Amino acid sequence: MTARIIDGTLLSKRLRSDKVAQRAAALTERGYPPRLAVILVGNNAASQIYVRNKIKACEANGLHAVCDYYPAELIEANLLVRIDQLNRDPRIHGILVQLPLPPHIDAYKVIAAIAPEKDVDGLHVVNMGALMAGKPLFRPCTPYGVMKIFELENIPLTGANAVVIGRSNIVGKPMAMLLVEAGATVTICSSKTRDLAVHTRSAEIVVAATGTWNLVTADMVKPGATVIDVGINRDDKGQLCGDVDFAGVHKVAGHITPVPGGVGPMTITMLLVNTIAAAEYAAG
Ligand code: GUN
Repeated sequence: MTARIIDGTLLSKRLRSDKVAQRAAALTERGYPPRLAVILVGNNAASQIYVRNKIKACEANGLHAVCDYYPAELIEANLLVRIDQLNRDPRIHGILVQLPLPPHIDAYKVIAAIAPEKDVDGLHVVNMGALMAGKPLFRPCTPYGVMKIFELENIPLTGANAVVIGRSNIVGKPMAMLLVEAGATVTICSSKTRDLAVHTRSAEIVVAATGTWNLVTADMVKPGATVIDVGINRDDKGQLCGDVDFAGVHKVAGHITPVPGGVGPMTITMLLVNTIAAAEYAAG
């Protein structure tokens, strides 16, 4: 068997023209141009690329983006003051603080300072709690994008065995919760799990999100399984790659996402979807 390669760029393109650009235009016509505020602290190279791509995607789809760039030495209190300003600004519908933050800044405290109705990243404790209760206002963008992939590719989740590898607040934990909500039987593993293959071999769905190059290899995958690669790493030649050995797993899986061009574009698309939803909510 060779897996069907899920083209996240193509799926995103369709969603952006069907579900984002039209709604953005309608909001603008009603006098509520959707606007996202992005905050980047420090000079993490990967974060700079992600933020640039998020802003470009906003601008290409009729959303406005404003970005604050701060040096790594930024004082936490000053960041909290800026978030308070953005919370009160009615022209701003979504606020995103790019992670990671420098170690002297408490990311939990910063995210908790964002008004939950503007937390388009879905990372505020209120939105995380609401996700747990099955009623999220915003779903975190990467797991939301993965759920969209399952929907658009007609991958059944009810009763499926799903293994999520990774336990971060941004991906692993919310991913597991969304899969549970969809009726899957979910096991949460991590890069530290003993004999990871024992778990993955019985899974119809594997989501890898640890940031470990070549963590998931062909011998660990059940034939026909759907393998979603959320990792973004560099291999020994400096090439962008995920957590999954794509060449090997492609021969065994039923569906597979590539890196790049799989989950990445879907994450940005769901950020746009969440920002539009926040603007629609504000517009009443
Ligand atoms: N850093 C890596 N992924 C993300 C994300 O989805 N949101 C934020 N805010 N920071 C990130």
